[in-house]
Amino acid sequence: MEKTLVVTGASSGIGKRICELSGQYGFSKVVGVGRSAEGLAKTKSKVEDQGGEFLGVQVDLANGKNSIELIAKSLEGFSNKVDLVVNNAGVLHEKPIEEVSWDNWKESMTVNLAGPYFLTQAMLPFMRNAKNPVVVNISSTLAKKPIPNTSVYNIAKAGINMMTQTLALELAPKVRVNAVMPAVVNTPMYQKRFATTEEMKAAMPDIESIHPMGRIGSVDDIAKAVFFLSSNDAGWITGTVLPVDGGMLVT
Ligand SMILES: NC(=O)c1ccc[n+]([C@@H]2O[C@H](COP(=O)([O-])OP(=O)(O)OC[C@H]3O[C@@H](n4cnc5c(N)ncnc54)[C@H](OP(=O)(O)O)[C@@H]3O)[C@@H](O)[C@H]2O)c1
Repeated sequence: MEKTLVVTGASSGIGKRICELSGQYGFSKVVGVGRSAEGLAKTKSKVEDQGGEFLGVQVDLANGKNSIELIAKSLEGFSNKVDLVVNNAGVLHEKPIEEVSWDNWKESMTVNLAGPYFLTQAMLPFMRNAKNPVVVNISSTLAKKPIPNTSVYNIAKAGINMMTQTLALELAPKVRVNAVMPAVVNTPMYQKRFATTEEMKAAMPDIESIHPMGRIGSVDDIAKAVFFLSSNDAGWITGTVLPVDGGMLVT
């Protein structure tokens, strides 16, 4: 039976890779959310190359309620059920508390925390039409092991972990809710932390060395963990926040 996936942040990085791999895991319909029309178009062509259907929903999740309503509305005529929701879109403001504005706080909390919560709420009627519906939230190891100057992000991701546990209780046994906690993953979000490619290359040995596995993560590392948690092999796993971090949290 065909399965439908809704993923935010489908225009880049981890979310894009989830869309690209979705056909291999039985998802023939993909709803991909993002801001960049160009990014969504690229993801669409990758999904369609593999015979899948892709519906790009271009919205700014920082707009809160309106953006979630648009996503729900876009499903009309595309799919009346949703098997998997991946709350993946995220924004990182890297600055000390003295420089954090109310707007930074609001954007970060809306995109990183309120968006996943209210998208899950909006998808419930569709998930109730699916056989084994699953929500997977993308958290961060920074929720457990913070670094300075990313405070708002760390706080939002800690909220995601609690949301995962609470909603797992609330929605059991119908909907399973889990999260993946990546350490450093090679995506535009990570790359943008450096002013130049040279600076990024120079920092790489140090960044790699904080991961016992000796490398930073790939988008495949995270996407495949998401598909494991979404599968029936993980049918007795709910409320789990799974580190996918090259061992970083053990250090
Ligand atoms: N990379 C890492 O090291 C790392 C580590 C731990 C956790 N994570 C988490 O992994 C998730 C994916 O991040 P990534 O590394 O793949 O980063 P990325 O390549 O920068 O992708 C972020 C995605 O989120 C979307 N997004 C951001 N703000 C949005 C908004 N206001 N409205 C709609 N979409 C928005 C972006 O869409 P547009 O590009 O279209 O704006 C993009 O598709 C995030 O939740 C991040 O916090 C990443």
